[in-house]
Amino acid sequence: MTRIGEAFKDATDKLRAAGIDSARLDARLLVAQAVGGAPTMVLSAREREMTAAQSAVLAASLRRRRAREPMAHILGEREFWSLPFKITAHTLIPRADSETLIAAALRDAPGDGAGIRILDIGVGSGCLLLTLLNAWPKAAGVGVDISAEALDVAAENTHRLGLDARAQFILKDAFIPGALAALGATALKFTHIVSNPPYIPDGDIAGLEPDVRDYEPLLALKGGRDGLDAYRAILDGVGDILAPTGKVYLEVGKGQHRDVIALADQRGLDVVGVDKDISSVERCVILHPRVRSRTAPIEGS
Ligand SMILES: C[S@@+](CC[C@H](N)C(=O)[O-])C[C@H]1O[C@@H](n2cnc3c(N)ncnc32)[C@H](O)[C@@H]1O
Repeated sequence: MTRIGEAFKDATDKLRAAGIDSARLDARLLVAQAVGGAPTMVLSAREREMTAAQSAVLAASLRRRRAREPMAHILGEREFWSLPFKITAHTLIPRADSETLIAAALRDAPGDGAGIRILDIGVGSGCLLLTLLNAWPKAAGVGVDISAEALDVAAENTHRLGLDARAQFILKDAFIPGALAALGATALKFTHIVSNPPYIPDGDIAGLEPDVRDYEPLLALKGGRDGLDAYRAILDGVGDILAPTGKVYLEVGKGQHRDVIALADQRGLDVVGVDKDISSVERCVILHPRVRSRTAPIEGS
């Protein structure tokens, strides 16, 4: 029999030897998961003996983590904007960077969300759409994704958060011409369009950290030759489905904000602002439809 404290030390050593920077934190979370307790009890109950079954669970988790499988996959969950989201190998693991979109949208529309209709393009686990619906109790929204498996996870997260009545999910390729316009044909226009699309240039995928490259869905990462394919498709389509006073919140990769603003400009959308993430990287491009002047220009002026 092994005590919790010994198992924690042994797990930390094994993860450290495997080159995992967050070895101590990961070990603590994996021991807590194996014994079915809170992370704090790894320290407070260090003298308690683990059962054989608990030790077997821990050994299996350590094997997975040493092979660089992400913690969110092993734990089955990741926190985003202080809400728990179920995560599988079919969903991108929500990133803290994406909370920049949430902060921007909530800042721009404080209140209960009455009249707000959200579209989340590439909804994945549902972290963006569901966080906004949770914050705006009167808002409703639609999430679109090309992955049926991701939508199953989003639906489960919706249920867990008690948001079933206000969230709808549609399985479709949102990046083919006309796909987004079709969403507007049957529904009211959207006041808020949010998206964290795949934006990694194809040539950069091989150089990603193994935790990301080998375990996260390629569909969620690959953005085409220059990383901008999804933005072109989204910006081609949003004009048809965005309310005249609506806004688009797009997550962008490091250094992509200028290109995305230029693509938007060519399609009649003006930039409202660019918000930085916690690492001071321009992360969220906020757009709205160009306001056309009511008065025609005076000839010769
Ligand atoms: C970067 S992930 C974002 C997931 C989630 N919104 C988040 O922020 O964590 C991009 C998502 O876009 C989806 N996706 C990729 N290509 C798509 C397409 N052609 N049409 C619709 N969704 C697509 C992927 O399946 C993935 O869930």
